[in-house]
Amino acid sequence: MRIVILISGRGSNMEALIEACADPVFPAEIALVIANRPTAEGLAKAGGRQIPTTVIDHTTFADREAFEVAIDAAAREARADLICLAGFMRLLSPWLVGRWRGRMINIHPSLLPAFRGLHVHERVLESGVRFSGCTVHFVSPEMDEGPIIAQAAIPVLPDDTPDALAARVLEQEHRIYPLAVRLIAERRVRITGHQVELKDAPLASGALINPAAPSPGDP
Ligand code: GRF
Repeated sequence: MRIVILISGRGSNMEALIEACADPVFPAEIALVIANRPTAEGLAKAGGRQIPTTVIDHTTFADREAFEVAIDAAAREARADLICLAGFMRLLSPWLVGRWRGRMINIHPSLLPAFRGLHVHERVLESGVRFSGCTVHFVSPEMDEGPIIAQAAIPVLPDDTPDALAARVLEQEHRIYPLAVRLIAERRVRITGHQVELKDAPLASGALINPAAPSPGDP
């Protein structure tokens, strides 16, 4: 399975995917990394790992549609089977999401559907919830929504700061993003309505995956 990764900044989730794909038995490869900002730190990290990179700078396009046409063209030229958003900070229109429906996934640093959007860790701490975590999900036109593939949960600690919590959540992100990609590449993931069914999925230790319920008649 060929993956195109879209980034805007640091690219640590991208690195986790690069690391996973470097294992010869991992069933996916990175075809291209696209950044919408020429200054994205992740570009150098990918380049250093001999991964092809390109910049599609949204500020140089007349409108969102032209920008997204360029993203779509680059992904198709790279023969992408799956687009992975990894800290990609542009909202995507229903047009691009629709073209890649079921073939575009995102990682978000909360237990969705709680805490969509930005400044997640600050809001988690203000809310007083006892657990936080991260979610890998298929992308729907609404922000931070779509069928959930994998989640990991961690406790919120009494003396947590947004940065400390973010760092612990990020560790889990780096575990479940490659896991979700692997499950998709192994064709164990099926979208049924708003949910994802996982077939014969191994429960990775500590990663809470929504339960696998193969349908009757499945091979
Ligand atoms: C991560 O926390 C991810 O969940 C969110 O943006 C952050 C990106 O970090 N969507 P990185 O660029 O992958 O290091």
